[in-house]
Amino acid sequence: LRNTVLVAGSANLDFVVRVPHIPAPGETVLGSNFLTFPGGKGANQAVACARAGGVPTRMLLALGADDFAAPLEQSLRQAGVDARVVRIADAATGVAFICLAADAENAITVAPGANARLQADDLPDLSDTSHLLMQLESPLEAVTGWALVARNAGVRTVLNAAPARSLPAELLAAIDVLVVNEGELAVISGESGPIATAVERLGKANVVVTLGAHGSCAHIDGEWLVQSAFAVDAVDTTGAGDTFCGALVAALAQGHGFAVALRRASAAASLACTRMGAQAGVPQAVEVEELLANGRESSSP
Ligand code: RIB
Ligand code: NA
Repeated sequence: LRNTVLVAGSANLDFVVRVPHIPAPGETVLGSNFLTFPGGKGANQAVACARAGGVPTRMLLALGADDFAAPLEQSLRQAGVDARVVRIADAATGVAFICLAADAENAITVAPGANARLQADDLPDLSDTSHLLMQLESPLEAVTGWALVARNAGVRTVLNAAPARSLPAELLAAIDVLVVNEGELAVISGESGPIATAVERLGKANVVVTLGAHGSCAHIDGEWLVQSAFAVDAVDTTGAGDTFCGALVAALAQGHGFAVALRRASAAASLACTRMGAQAGVPQAVEVEELLANGRESSSP
């Protein structure tokens, strides 16, 4: 039975400082207290998929041999993710330094550490996997290898092309569903003009474009879908895009169409913005159901 989502990607410990504004080059800003949270785009997406409910979630990740590994593994297990950890004895666990500004926007610097050591042949057996979800905090050769193996095994491949990097043609060709923000779309397509032009240039059947507080749009088999964000009071947008991706794939793996999946992903991502922390901010399924039933969608994209 193919019913499992496999997330292959990064885990980082996030070092967060709230600041009045993100410092300019050469500037020092005085922030508030220092906080740590489990993060990393891959692990955030795995937690979001597991918390969405309805599909078993597995994750391939790499951790170093230091004190930062345990809280990252614990966060995954507490969310119900089946974590397949590659231990890298001579690498540090991934870390991210996050400046969180008063307007809830952020600036992130990542030291990948062990994440940079994942390899193509680390991919676990795919016989029960329906969807493989990947990001770009792992080596491109590994991501390309995973996508090709999954494609050949009949697994649906989903790539959140974040952070923005240009993609090898071989990787792009092996992806069934591409999820990008506007900046990533411009880098991958080489087109910084209108979204529709950039998406057409990619020539992919399924492209989802996230638009932050404006929601998302998707070009699915030649048809456009649009989905608003939900009205919330944002305190921390870190991990909102990851929550969107995990919830989207959980819904697709349950057999929902893109319209339903986008709406669920949008609700989950909107809630994630109301809480501090990447994985700590991912909502539970009941909270998403409540927002879907009673929430207000803000203006459409
Ligand atoms: O997308 C948010 C994530 O980016 C953070 O959790 C940080 O670890 C970086 O990977
Ligand atoms: Na958050």
